Amino acid sequence: MEVKLAIGVVILFSLLLLFYGAYYLVNPDLRGEEILTKRGIPYPTVIAHRGASIKAPESTAEAYLKARDMGVDYLEADLQRTKDGKIVVFHDQTLERTSNVEEVFPERKEDKLGSFTYDELKRLDFGSWFDERYEGLEIITLEELIEIAQGGQYTPGLILETKDSEKYPGIEEEVVAILEEEGWMESDEKKEFAKTIFFSFSEKSLQKFKELAPQVPRLLLVTDNMISRSSWRKWLKRADGLADGLGTKGFMSWPWYIAQAHEQGLFVFPYTINELWQIKLLAYFQSSGYITDRPDLVLSFLDSISEIPILNDE
Ligand code: G3P
Ligand code: CA
Repeated sequence: MEVKLAIGVVILFSLLLLFYGAYYLVNPDLRGEEILTKRGIPYPTVIAHRGASIKAPESTAEAYLKARDMGVDYLEADLQRTKDGKIVVFHDQTLERTSNVEEVFPERKEDKLGSFTYDELKRLDFGSWFDERYEGLEIITLEELIEIAQGGQYTPGLILETKDSEKYPGIEEEVVAILEEEGWMESDEKKEFAKTIFFSFSEKSLQKFKELAPQVPRLLLVTDNMISRSSWRKWLKRADGLADGLGTKGFMSWPWYIAQAHEQGLFVFPYTINELWQIKLLAYFQSSGYITDRPDLVLSFLDSISEIPILNDE
């Protein structure tokens, strides 16, 4: 009896999934473009996650230069603060995975980034772990990232994440001050392009950015374990008035989730989208954008898309 019930539930669930999947394939939600355009964000948005991080060591100048020269819309970067107050681009809490800290500071190999001064970090090699061709790559500052973004033929914007922001009180003010100084707080008048976007898993951090720079678009990041704690509807509620969009794990970016977000005027950027099948599926579902380690793959797919029979193509 129990087995029959289980089979029944599975069949019912599969039928529902099939129904909703088919519905959204033939009738995708089209509001993403309108929502992004209003905020000066290109559609669909191609965001290089830690640079072109499949081709060069993540968060280094090389990875960002490659992504910039591919013509992405935004460079994504995680921001943290050194012991002596420099804002640097780095993802992990500790340095072990992507540097030779064990060699240079063996006693401190498990210490957090924020316990190192900028000069100490400059002594580390952030390239060799990836490939010896990149030996000697140094950590970069927010100012250096800005220089990269504005120094090429293409001029991508920046999508900046305050990483573990609760450990760095006041980091939002410092980031905004640097961006203001460099002229990165206003949208590009000619292109009406939102040069900067802030995003964070921390609602407190987004609230601060809202107070400091309400004109800059904000994105609330959500992981799969956050979804298991709270329903999608609840996350939409939490984002209401706080953020302009949500960043979700790729496999959670169900088209009906996207449609609900759009109803509320929020866009959705799925991360981290690195496989062609994911890109194709999300394109069919009219994804607002793609946060990817492989921007070349996303860009070449989007370039070819007019030749691909999109179901809603007119
Ligand atoms: O792109 C979203 C992403 O940046 C959040 O995750 O861990 O790569 O910073 P993470
Ligand atoms: Ca990030």
